[in-house]
Amino acid sequence: MTAAFARARANIALSKYWGKCDAALNLPAVPSLSLTLDDLVTETWASVDGALDADAVTLDGSLRTGAEAATLGRFLDLVRSRCGAPPNAYLMVRSSNHFPTASGLASSASGYAALAAAASSALGASLDDAALSRLARRGSASAARSIFGGWAVLPAGVPGDDALAAQPAFDAAHWDVAMVLALADKGPKDVSSRDGMRRTVETSPYYAAWLATAPLLHAEVRAAVAARDLEAVGAAMEASALAMHASAWAARPAVRYARGATLETLDAVRTLRAQGVGAWATMDAGPHVKVLCAAADASTVSTHLAAVPGVLGTRVARPGAGVERT
Ligand code: ADP
Ligand code: DP6
Repeated sequence: MTAAFARARANIALSKYWGKCDAALNLPAVPSLSLTLDDLVTETWASVDGALDADAVTLDGSLRTGAEAATLGRFLDLVRSRCGAPPNAYLMVRSSNHFPTASGLASSASGYAALAAAASSALGASLDDAALSRLARRGSASAARSIFGGWAVLPAGVPGDDALAAQPAFDAAHWDVAMVLALADKGPKDVSSRDGMRRTVETSPYYAAWLATAPLLHAEVRAAVAARDLEAVGAAMEASALAMHASAWAARPAVRYARGATLETLDAVRTLRAQGVGAWATMDAGPHVKVLCAAADASTVSTHLAAVPGVLGTRVARPGAGVERT
């Protein structure tokens, strides 16, 4: 039997999503804007297999079991129902991330975008990008943005309204920028983004301040991306990341993804700016720092960051394409 194939790329948010307004429907409480990256690729094959009595998902060569398999199975139940397929049309899925999984490089974004696309194709449905984005969002909210290439916006959700999808904002050719990834750790992180944001929502005294600030920073980022104003994007992007992490640090117990190398890299980015190189940082639910700069400055930034104590290596990414299916 021929397997349906999909390729998707991770995205990094410049204005961050952190916290849900409806956990059951996986709806974000704040709007976000991201850049899909060419270097962070997931490839997924899916086929219906009549011999299975449950979905079988192999990720990076290992068959997923336990709670992770149950989560993936619930997502595939939703895909079957959206595609009008019988509940027992179980899928054999094989997926590879060409970058570290569950370490803060947004594997859940490219992973669920590719899974939504490959699984729906395997079930014989041809969903348009909005329907795919809506579906991928239920797997991981950031995945809704990876359906689109270039710059994408995921608006804040409205509790109970399952129609939310990301929207393309500007295509990959809009602006010749790069994102330099400074890798601060090898292993998977201790606390997933889902658990980290849940704990922030439930216990952080600064979560209310984050809810008030995030939409304003999002509007600033969006206007500055439209104007291709790197300095304005950079300032608002750093403010969004630091406000998100401040709300997480204030949770009980604290949700802290930054390591020593993370802070060293933030200092190095400031040094680059003092030397006249336009570079600004963002961090997600992991220790790595992602640095936005003009494409022409990417190798200078990469060389500088590779020398930071504790940085294990760098990757240079450029604006990438949306989901591809065969
Ligand atoms: P990350 O920072 O990499 O997004 P998360 O903790 O948010 O880390 O999400 C990681 C989870 O996303 C994995 O444990 C797995 O369940 C899911 N995931 C990652 N890659 C894939 C994939 N290619 N296909 C399906 N699910 C994936
Ligand atoms: C810090 O989309 O991984 O990367 O919806 O629970 O799967 P779930 O969370 P996820 O969280 C992303 C958080 C972030 C910011 C962002 O990508 O906007």
